[in-house]
Amino acid sequence: MKIDQNLVIPKSDSWKMFNAISGRYDFLNSLLSLGQDLRWRRALKRFLPDSEGQTILDLATGTAGVLIVLAKNNPMIKRGYGVDLAVKMLEIGRKKIKLQHLDDRLVLKKADAQALPFPDEAFDCVTISFGIRNIPDLRLVLLEMYRVAKKGGRIIILEFSKPENPLLKAGHWLYLQMVVPLVGFLFSGNFKAYTYLNQTIQAFPYGDRFCKILKQMGFVNIEPHPLMGGAATIYVAQK
Ligand SMILES: C[S@@+](CC[C@H](N)C(=O)[O-])C[C@H]1O[C@@H](n2cnc3c(N)ncnc32)[C@H](O)[C@@H]1O
Repeated sequence: MKIDQNLVIPKSDSWKMFNAISGRYDFLNSLLSLGQDLRWRRALKRFLPDSEGQTILDLATGTAGVLIVLAKNNPMIKRGYGVDLAVKMLEIGRKKIKLQHLDDRLVLKKADAQALPFPDEAFDCVTISFGIRNIPDLRLVLLEMYRVAKKGGRIIILEFSKPENPLLKAGHWLYLQMVVPLVGFLFSGNFKAYTYLNQTIQAFPYGDRFCKILKQMGFVNIEPHPLMGGAATIYVAQK
């Protein structure tokens, strides 16, 4: 499923843009989401499988925010891997992992989420947050998530969506269309990156449409959990 037409940056090059803004990425995430991004990542924790000795994989891991939140103070996670194509994002992630003394359990690798360097059925849980709408081929990444998850294993996807309430929806649209590109440009000097953010959010098949795609890909027990009136959604599903 390719929806690259008219994007200011083709999805196949998005990792280059993330390399370019890597130094400002965490700061701008918190600023532009008014601190919600951390709350949303923390919300993922309650959907992790409830079993000891888990091995998890986080795709499009960026600066490893999700892996750190999931593994910190959680001895049930024995090992966590994160992959991304943007090596500069990974470098920052490695520093953060070391600072949190999690480097004995968390490992970051450069890899494409559409062609993972892991064997079949290797992970108890596979996550991706604010990443899936950046991947050129949505079906390829979902196929890979399915392949590397253990039988009965879980996938957890956190992605932007759109509020249902018409007032919230209008405010959300204005915020993405005007505020995000402007503030993003002022703090990162990169206008395209934050226009791209808006464009990919608008184009992503969220909610029921995304649940249908997960079903078509073979996942079961699919549950959408909207956050902040639907500005983001956590999708939980099982292989
Ligand atoms: C918005 S960031 C999300 C980072 C992190 N998951 C978070 O929650 O902050 C999207 C990430 O997707 C990565 N990315 C884009 N295309 C990719 C691909 N084909 N394979 C792996 N990572 C990719 C980018 O490099 C970037 O780090």
